[in-house]
Amino acid sequence: MERVLKAAAMEDKTVILVPLNAAWVRPGSMIDLFMESLSIGNGTRKLLKHLVIVALDDKAYARCFSLHLHCISLKIEGADFEGEKRFMTPGFLKVGWRRIDFLRSVLQMGYNFISTDADIMWFRNPFSYFQPDGDFQITCDQFLGNPVDLNNRANIGFQYVKSNNRTIEFFKFWYLQREKDPGHLDQDVFNSIKYDPYVRKIGIQFRFLTTALFGGFCQPSRDLNKACTMHANCCAGLGSKLHDLRIILDDWRNYMALPSSVKKSHPPSWRAPKNCR
Ligand SMILES: *[C@@H]1O[C@H](CO)[C@@H](O)[C@H](O)[C@H]1NC(C)=O
Ligand SMILES: *[C@@H]1O[C@H](CO)[C@@H](O)[C@H](O)[C@H]1NC(C)=O
Repeated sequence: MERVLKAAAMEDKTVILVPLNAAWVRPGSMIDLFMESLSIGNGTRKLLKHLVIVALDDKAYARCFSLHLHCISLKIEGADFEGEKRFMTPGFLKVGWRRIDFLRSVLQMGYNFISTDADIMWFRNPFSYFQPDGDFQITCDQFLGNPVDLNNRANIGFQYVKSNNRTIEFFKFWYLQREKDPGHLDQDVFNSIKYDPYVRKIGIQFRFLTTALFGGFCQPSRDLNKACTMHANCCAGLGSKLHDLRIILDDWRNYMALPSSVKKSHPPSWRAPKNCR
């Protein structure tokens, strides 16, 4: 694992991590849409060499190698990842928690990371859009207008976390909560412990990312001149996600083909969510 992270890391020891299972790596499935977004995004293709696939089963691991990417195997025994991940089933919960523990170990090795779900399309380089400070930057289902307001409804599908003592301690604390809160989703637990006095004591600085740049189907970005990422959140079912993200990729291609004067004067908006609505 250390060897893979080292090979993939940027100069400042940052890696991009995307977890995938068998259903999401099938040809034409989520992995292909995700990689396509990075290759047609503006200035994002160069990020591919920093991308590490975190394979949750053997099929995902094998497909990763066929794509010539950096691959880490994070096989989770006893959970069924062959089918589509079902929301709130024990397998789904287990994957989420195992991922938190994995991210903690990445931080402890001294690596910063962006952890991204594969159903997030990348159209611009996010590093140009992050807040200048903050330990832990995270996207939102609902952004209320202020990046430091803890009431912003976080979506943990996209997180940019710097490795330091505060973030390592926070990830340990977050993971410990799974015993207190069995049957709760890692994301729901995040949205509750962000207020915890102990978290305040750790002193970790959260920065919530605006949906105007880091949007999703819950709260879409309106201006394609600004959109950085687009997440198929607020959407159940792999089929619906794939259908709508294909529309999003088409929208982006059409937008990029417009003359720059039209991009500025008449920026189009997204035609999805459709099936995800
Ligand atoms: C793409 O990136 C280049 C270089 O940063 C920039 O000049 C251009 O305006 C960008 N195009 C769009 C559509 O964002
Ligand atoms: C983090 O904690 C370790 C162990 O407690 C300590 O040695 C190190 O100096 C700390 N690093 C920072 C940047 O505070």
